[in-house]
Amino acid sequence: MPTLLPLVATLCCLFILQRCFQIRKILRTIHYQPCDWTFFSLSGLGGRFPRIPFILPGRHYNWRKHQDFKALGSDIFVAAALAPTVSLNYQLADPDAIKEVIGSRVRFPKPIELYKPILFFGDNVVASEHDQWKRHRKISAPAFTEPNNKLVWHETIHVINDLFDNVWGNRDEIAVDHIREVFMPTTLFVISAAAFGRRITWNDEVLPPPGSPNDLQVSHDYLYKLILPNWAMGLTQRLRQSNVAFDELERYMVEMIRDRKNQTSDDVEPKYDLLNGLLDACEGDLSGDSKLTERELLGNIFVFLLAVQPEGNEVDKHYPLNCDDGSLGSQIPKSTGHTLCFAFALLALYPQEQERLYEEIITIFPDGRLPTYEDANSLVFANAILNETLRMFPPVPGIPKYSAEDTVLPMTNSFGEKVLVPVPKGSNIILQTAGLHYNPKYWPDPHTFKPSRFLGNWPRDAFLPFSGGVRSCLGRRFAELESIVTLTMFISKYRVGIKDEPQFAGETFEQKKERVLDTIPRLTLTPVRIPLVFKRR
Ligand code: HEM
Ligand SMILES: *[C@@H]1O[C@H](CO)[C@@H](O)[C@H](O)[C@H]1NC(C)=O
Ligand SMILES: *[C@@H]1O[C@H](CO)[C@@H](O)[C@H](O)[C@H]1NC(C)=O
Repeated sequence: MPTLLPLVATLCCLFILQRCFQIRKILRTIHYQPCDWTFFSLSGLGGRFPRIPFILPGRHYNWRKHQDFKALGSDIFVAAALAPTVSLNYQLADPDAIKEVIGSRVRFPKPIELYKPILFFGDNVVASEHDQWKRHRKISAPAFTEPNNKLVWHETIHVINDLFDNVWGNRDEIAVDHIREVFMPTTLFVISAAAFGRRITWNDEVLPPPGSPNDLQVSHDYLYKLILPNWAMGLTQRLRQSNVAFDELERYMVEMIRDRKNQTSDDVEPKYDLLNGLLDACEGDLSGDSKLTERELLGNIFVFLLAVQPEGNEVDKHYPLNCDDGSLGSQIPKSTGHTLCFAFALLALYPQEQERLYEEIITIFPDGRLPTYEDANSLVFANAILNETLRMFPPVPGIPKYSAEDTVLPMTNSFGEKVLVPVPKGSNIILQTAGLHYNPKYWPDPHTFKPSRFLGNWPRDAFLPFSGGVRSCLGRRFAELESIVTLTMFISKYRVGIKDEPQFAGETFEQKKERVLDTIPRLTLTPVRIPLVFKRR
């Protein structure tokens, strides 16, 4: 009907006009900070589809490293969207701004609604804020003691020796299709022993059959197998399908706690695993209200083993942290395991760095003895390799926060001047770890693996793999020690290289590097496929 046309046109004009006013208002509020505009935000549709300029932001900025910051000419930009509601998402790759955010938990809290899926076993240290978080942190932190670090060291050696002696045997050459096959189990075994006092060996049949079609799913399955007693084995299928199964899992965990409580009273040998640390802190002489209830204890234990991973839908809401494997995942062992995968891929690609590590090892252990806990600080180059791996492949590439008040963030602009960026109350803030780690202002030639950059003076504020401030990673030392001793054990015995495969025979170094280091940007960074070969030295 022709009479309707002017009406529709008027409405459209009004709509566009209103949005333009809205945009102008936003630009004024944020003092014309560089913006990446899209009509839709990441909520709902936005995070599900690829990027469409001006319409959908696409999956995430997380794994674009420093690209977007470079394109917009600023180490802070705002991903702004008009629908369904106006949302401002501050993306940070500036060390001063990031330091300010991690330095004030009260002004920049964690958006804990994103962590809801990991609350079903009770409140915990990862998914809480304010007074609740303080209680949890106070109970959890003391579990990460020096004796526990020592336990991590010894259990890692135990697990690797078990692999060398009982699985790899005296073969001179071991080829693996994807190094995850090695480092997912090792990290799980280590956490099982150092967190729960449960030793698992390589021949316990908890491993996925080689070449499993979907090893991501399988890795969840065998994780459950680790903590579940035999009678509950049938559970793994159902765990994914129904909430009822989680009740059973919960019952088992309660039993594990009660068992342990019963044991400690008459056990002569003290135990230093994390579970005991938590139990001690709960039973210690804390004032009544800071004690954790059994359910809260369970929540914290669950977090150590299973989950720091919110489910896809929740995460899509405001943050570009979208993950594809919707099921709950074991982020803690995964973050350590994947770091090791990338570290060995890099050593295989850069043999001269590998030789330098080998030289460090034979200098410290000329007699070939096992590394002791006291050696940890002498293994400086191994530590530098770990740091350089974490710089290039930060397992948590985006850390979400929000602004609890109208405030400002300090930053260095493209002219090298210090300026203040206004941030309105309620804005989402994402610490772009990868953006920071590839920022060429602080890391020259950021795409090249150069562990030696960590040997001299390095920009400490431009390195954030474990987050920082009071909410930094509790398991940093745990992960570092495990990684350092793993690097040392493998490289002292084997030379690692990229597995030769006929289909890739004609590749250049750059092509090989790109293929081997390819990632799936899930909530934590996941390697696609790293085929390696280990040759005995
Ligand atoms: C390479 C390995 C690891 C990396 C890169 C890493 C990184 C991180 C990051 C970035 C956070 C902050 C997350 C956020 O703000 O949302 C975090 C928190 C945490 N991590 Fe780790 N992590 C690693 C291994 C571990 C291990 C092995 C454990 C325990 C055994 C652990 C326990 C924790 C806990 C309990 C928190 C919460 C702290 C709090 O909110 O107060 N992490 N980790
Ligand atoms: C503790 O263990 C003993 C012997 O194994 C058992 O008789 C007792 O019932 C247990 N107590 C609790 C509280 O589980
Ligand atoms: C590696 O980084 C950590 C901070 O995460 C730092 O404490 C340590 O000194 C660094 N080690 C080396 C060798 O750079």
